Amino acid sequence: MNDLFTSLAIGDIILANRLVMAPLTRSRADNGLPTDLMATYYTQRASAGLIISEGSQISSQAVGYIGTPGIYTDKQSASWKKVVTGVHQRGGHIFCQLWHCGRISHPDFHNGELPVAPSAIKPDGQAFTSEGLKDFVTPRALGLDEIPELIERYCYAAVTAMDAGFDGVEIHAANGYLIDQFLRDKTNQRSDYYGGSLENRTRLLLEIVAAVGKAIGFNKVGVRISPVNTFNDISDSNPQALFNYVAEQLNQFKPAYLHVVEVTMVGELSEHCDMKQIRQCFKGLYIANGGYDKVRGNEGIRKGRADAIAFGAKFIANPDLPERLKAGAPLNEVDPNTFYGGDEHGYTDYPFLNEE
Ligand code: PHB
Repeated sequence: MNDLFTSLAIGDIILANRLVMAPLTRSRADNGLPTDLMATYYTQRASAGLIISEGSQISSQAVGYIGTPGIYTDKQSASWKKVVTGVHQRGGHIFCQLWHCGRISHPDFHNGELPVAPSAIKPDGQAFTSEGLKDFVTPRALGLDEIPELIERYCYAAVTAMDAGFDGVEIHAANGYLIDQFLRDKTNQRSDYYGGSLENRTRLLLEIVAAVGKAIGFNKVGVRISPVNTFNDISDSNPQALFNYVAEQLNQFKPAYLHVVEVTMVGELSEHCDMKQIRQCFKGLYIANGGYDKVRGNEGIRKGRADAIAFGAKFIANPDLPERLKAGAPLNEVDPNTFYGGDEHGYTDYPFLNEE
C-alpha cells in the first residue's frame, strides 16, 4: 500500500518519497539571479521527493515582483546550476516553475510600458515594486500576433532550465497569473481564438504545453492549476467545467503530472468545484496541494485521491520535513514575516531535527 513515504516514478526519474516541495516565492534573488544562499536553501530541502522551484520569469515581460529569479539568460542558467547541483548531490530532484505574471505587475518593471494580459482589465490590488506598494494598472491586451512569440519564450525558458540541469519544468497556470488569466472568464474577455468558449480560453495553455513538451520531452513537463483560488482578483463562472476540460485535454500530451492547488489562498475548499472530478478526468500523476498534513496526505494517497502531496509552509519551516513526518517528530512553526525578501533569517536557519 502506497503512502507519503513510498517512491514514485515521474517520467525518467524516481522520487524517493511522495512529498513534494511546492513552488514558493521567497524574493531573495539578486537582479533575477539565484544566489548562493538560495542554493543552500534548496539543498537543505533535497530530501523532498521532488522540489518545484519558486516561480521563475520566462522573459523580462513576465516580471511582476522584486527579488524573483529569471530563467531566460545564460547567466541565470549558470546561477541556477548551483542550486540544481546542490539538490542532485544530496539525491534530490528539482523542476523549474516557469512563470509569467501578466497583469499582476506594474509599469515600473517594464520601463514605463504597460504589463500584458488577455484583456485590458485592471486587477484590484497593488503590486510590490522597489518603491513599495503601487496600485495595479489597466494592462494592455496581448495582440494575436504576439502569441507565437510568447509561446516561443516559454520554450526558450524551458530549454534554459534543462541546460541548468533541472529534471523538468512546471508550467505555472495557477493563482491568477498570465495563463490563469487566459483560462478564467473574469479576466479573459477576448473575442478571438483565445477567448470566449472554454475551448478557446484553454488554447494558450495547451499550445504552451505542446511546444514546451516538443522542445524538452513531455514527460519532463508538469502543469499547475488552482481551480478555486480567487487570489489576484480572479474567478470563473464555471470552474468545474473549465478545469475538468483542462484535465481531459492535457491527457493527449501525457505530461509528467498535474499539480492542483485544491483550496483558496486562505485554505478553504469550494463547493463550486469537486477536485475528485478533476482527478478522474486526468489520466496521469496527480499532485495535490493545500492544507495537507501527514494523516490527510497518507489517506489521500492510499485512497487514490492523489499520487503525491505538495507542502508549502511546512517545507519553509522544516528543511527535513520527510524525516520529521516519518518519525512523528514535532514540526518547526513557520514565521510569515520572513516569507519575502531579507537574508538567511527565516530562510536557511530553520533547524534540522538533529540540531535540536
Ligand atoms: C506570492 O508571491 O504571494 C505568490 C507568488 C506566486 C504564486 C502565488 C503566490 O503562485
